[in-house]
Amino acid sequence: MSDPTAPIGVFDSGVGGLTVARAVAGRLPKETLVYLGDTARVPYGAKSPATVTHYTRQALAFFEKLKVKLVVIACNTASAAALPELGRAARLPLVGVVEPGARAAVAHTHNGVIGVIGTRTTIASESYEEAIHRLNPEVVIHGRSCPLFVPLAEEGWLTGPVPRWVAQSYLEPLREAGVDTLVLGCTHYPLLKGVIAQAVGDGVTLVDSADETARAVEELLDANGLANYTGPGGGHTFYATDISDTMTALAESFFSGPVGGMKIVDLESFG
Ligand code: DGL
Repeated sequence: MSDPTAPIGVFDSGVGGLTVARAVAGRLPKETLVYLGDTARVPYGAKSPATVTHYTRQALAFFEKLKVKLVVIACNTASAAALPELGRAARLPLVGVVEPGARAAVAHTHNGVIGVIGTRTTIASESYEEAIHRLNPEVVIHGRSCPLFVPLAEEGWLTGPVPRWVAQSYLEPLREAGVDTLVLGCTHYPLLKGVIAQAVGDGVTLVDSADETARAVEELLDANGLANYTGPGGGHTFYATDISDTMTALAESFFSGPVGGMKIVDLESFG
């Protein structure tokens, strides 16, 4: 049986998952996180499911060694492409971002027309479609990959004519399809909420997987007697597979705070 005072692992392909870590830390301030970003091999968004599964398996082996009590797969691409297979054999409780996002989308839609945006691999996997249809087979879903959103967010181009134009080009078909709910199915997209909201227009609910996942983590910890009610919380540790000054600065902007003393890890040594 796991120890409630053990940390929570948070895994992402890079620094984008820090949006999810930030949401988990904000919702559960008595918990301590161990974040792992595979910054040497990012992006995962255009890689094959087999490669993403292999990388995610290595990350889980790393977290098992650290004896975390639960792992959040903050990366939508890893949740979509790897979690269905890895979840079956996992020795740790795993929380992906797809199920919580799907649940929130189904709860929010009034007209039963939902948009899902994500990386190419996430959209090609149709994981969100399957998760949404398990909850409500009647819902109509429009998926769209938006690959340019990731570099825009990483460059800090969150407002202005370029991100506005990119968002409009990607999202016009979803607006025309009449979606009333849009799932932001990628770690980076919540940072572009402003231009995304403008592009889809008023009356469309944006589902932020980060917030929904933090809620799902809280529920799972409570249900399994794993919540840390005494704290002290904080004191998070940040691991990456490649570290540079640019990457650290980027990580701090995604986390909205210092991630000092980042440690390096070689995931290749984990199988
Ligand atoms: N973390 C990825 C996701 O949420 C985006 C970045 C990448 O392509 O690795 O899908």
